[in-house]
Amino acid sequence: MTSLQTSRTLGVAAIGYAFMGQAHSNAWRTVANHFDVPNFEQKVLVGRDAAAVAAAAHKYGWSESATDWREVIARDDIDIVDICAPGWLHAEIATAALAAGKHVLVEKPLANSMAESLAMVAAAQAARSVGVRSMVGFNYRRVPALALARKLIAAGELGTVRQIRASYLQDWLVDDSAPMTWRLRKETAGSGALGDIASHAVDQVQYLLNDTVADVSGRLHTFVTERPGPDGPEQVTVDDAAWATLTMDGGAVASVDVSRVALGQKNALRLEVYGTAGSITFNLENPNELYFLNGTDPVEVQGFRRILVTEPEHPYISGWWPQGHVIGWEHSFTHQIRDFLLNIANGTDPSPSFEEGLGVQRVLAAIEASSAAGGATVPTAAPQLVSKD
Ligand SMILES: NC(=O)c1ccc[n+]([C@@H]2O[C@H](COP(=O)([O-])OP(=O)(O)OC[C@H]3O[C@@H](n4cnc5c(N)ncnc54)[C@H](O)[C@@H]3O)[C@@H](O)[C@H]2O)c1
Repeated sequence: MTSLQTSRTLGVAAIGYAFMGQAHSNAWRTVANHFDVPNFEQKVLVGRDAAAVAAAAHKYGWSESATDWREVIARDDIDIVDICAPGWLHAEIATAALAAGKHVLVEKPLANSMAESLAMVAAAQAARSVGVRSMVGFNYRRVPALALARKLIAAGELGTVRQIRASYLQDWLVDDSAPMTWRLRKETAGSGALGDIASHAVDQVQYLLNDTVADVSGRLHTFVTERPGPDGPEQVTVDDAAWATLTMDGGAVASVDVSRVALGQKNALRLEVYGTAGSITFNLENPNELYFLNGTDPVEVQGFRRILVTEPEHPYISGWWPQGHVIGWEHSFTHQIRDFLLNIANGTDPSPSFEEGLGVQRVLAAIEASSAAGGATVPTAAPQLVSKD
């Protein structure tokens, strides 16, 4: 038994059992097989439909199911609340759970609005002062190739970074007859491709460069303005695609483009970083590979070299398989849970924090404001935090 396993078993509740609920459940179920983490128990899975959530709980390894998240966060045997519900619920559940002394992992984006994000940061700060931890689920930070990319950039292997390109392209809305969902209504999703996938792209820009965005110029567009709803045709109130140019505080320039109507692109998160001494490229559809060009190599032999990020020396890989036995998209969630559990056990603050999630929201809000102003340059001025009083 290691020191991590001597403390009391942490009770976990997850809220939401669909896409992210399943991905997080898989991570909770497998993390202890691969990493040394504190003892925990998958206690309760929460949803709205009693029969459906009971079936999901059974399938995904949870001891119980429930339909009222408020009752669950009030339980003494729950220590961790993992929020896999849509964005409109993030602020309400996270602030209540933190106030009840529960550690909170919440899916991205942090929330649907700046006001909600600010309230969540205030709640996280109050909770942190009494040892309660919080984290926002930008899981791509825990793709080993991207963790390695950040390390190489921080070590100066690229020299001074001048440009970064981040695109995140999907095509699940390319069909005009695809039906309305909560993701296409502003009141439930906050925004469209912007909050859904530009949040990941912007987080990666800030994470890889260890820098923050100073100003933005952006544009949002909705190609399909009406879709079939439950009661007939319904207005789409969020963007299908977004584009932005970002100036980083450190002087680099980033371009971000995201779409849910890019025909043929399924889940293509692509990152390219160009420095004075080296360059890096990555595509999530080949998640084990990082391409690195060393600009100090003699020109005759210069070229992008493929690094297969499956060596035990690479971030997180020592928990998995022998070299070359590749891992997948879902492993980033396992790494996220592993790090969150270690933060709780060690009494350290997780990253990305709610403040970092708010930092992404500031950029998204500035892109929206820029788009509304015809693409004008908009600074991402730091907002005042909501007072705790
Ligand atoms: N990290 C990633 O790569 C990634 C990918 C997809 C979605 N997400 C994020 O995860 C979150 C959830 O998205 P999803 O794709 O899983 O959505 P989803 O529609 O597939 O699932 C939402 C779940 O929330 C549950 N829910 C809704 N209202 C509830 C309530 N009042 N009480 C309890 N449960 C409730 C639903 O029953 C459902 O199980 C969003 O914030 C989304 O942006 C992250």
